[in-house]
Amino acid sequence: MKKILVLHYSQTGQLTRVLDSILTPLKADPAVSITYEELKPAKPFPFPWTSKEFFDAFPESVLEKPIEMQTLKVNPSEQFDLIILGCQVWFLSPSQPLTGFLKSKEGAQLLNGKNVITVSASRNMWLNAQESVKLMLKNAGAKLAGNIALIDRAPNLVSVATIVGWLFYNKKENYFGILPPSGISEKEIAEASRFGTTILEALNKNEFQRLQEKLVAQGGVSMVKTLVNLELRAKFIFRKWAQFISTKGGPGDPKRRVRTKIFAWYLPIGLLVLSPIAFTLSNLIMLLMPKKAKKQREYFEGVELK
Ligand SMILES: Cc1cc2nc3c(=O)[nH]c(=O)nc-3n(C[C@H](O)[C@H](O)[C@H](O)COP(=O)(O)O)c2cc1C
Repeated sequence: MKKILVLHYSQTGQLTRVLDSILTPLKADPAVSITYEELKPAKPFPFPWTSKEFFDAFPESVLEKPIEMQTLKVNPSEQFDLIILGCQVWFLSPSQPLTGFLKSKEGAQLLNGKNVITVSASRNMWLNAQESVKLMLKNAGAKLAGNIALIDRAPNLVSVATIVGWLFYNKKENYFGILPPSGISEKEIAEASRFGTTILEALNKNEFQRLQEKLVAQGGVSMVKTLVNLELRAKFIFRKWAQFISTKGGPGDPKRRVRTKIFAWYLPIGLLVLSPIAFTLSNLIMLLMPKKAKKQREYFEGVELK
């Protein structure tokens, strides 16, 4: 019997549905047992979000401060052949519940020595968050064996507009009949089951070395080429903002409200102005230094940590 543990935290349910689709072939195999564990913060985050709560979650997400988590149902000393970890992305960083789990004692105990496959279903900027997850997994003694990253395929600014409706008003579709629904398409969610077949094969052979290569060949890692450089620079700027805000106080502290409000104005304006510039610069870099750009993309498709 092969034992799999699936850890997930999802607010809209999208990430859980992606995981479910991936797990379809594994669930159908009687020789595989799957345990599900929801990662629950001690103090729940809201959904839908208010603007105030959303931006107040920014500094601690970016600074990757671990929050208190509810005790896991699963025994942390239980052994698993594979852990599949749903990774929600917040502000180019792991979501606070994910960081809370990865940096917890229980998390480290569960992850130590295990093969882990990470799965994200973000808007389109997950590279920095995944680098942080790679490091946290390494610190916990886990071995990252695979990564599947699905994204919203709409143009960047369109997905920014639609995700606002989704996160703040729980309105996922019907944007005047013009804009596409927010999030990962239903077709991509359904077709994610193909990754499960590849995972099952690796699990049965206990051979994870070439898993990521196979997942990438199956289209398991999506990224927007023209946003890679913008995203890498943005995390640096985000850290400065996060420090600037958090020096005034912790989560919910009224003393940091003014700074949080300024950031709430800066973010959409920054995106509107910087996106087209980044798009042009990225195309120029890819044209002038195609090898460097390709190498960079290949690194982010992989599971190694530089
Ligand atoms: C506070 C917050 C910040 C987010 N920041 C990012 C981000 O930096 N990059 C990104 O691609 N998606 C970002 N998203 C979108 C999420 O990664 C995810 O796609 C969306 O919240 C739905 O996820 P769920 O089904 O796991 O709840 C953010 C969402 C939230 C709630």
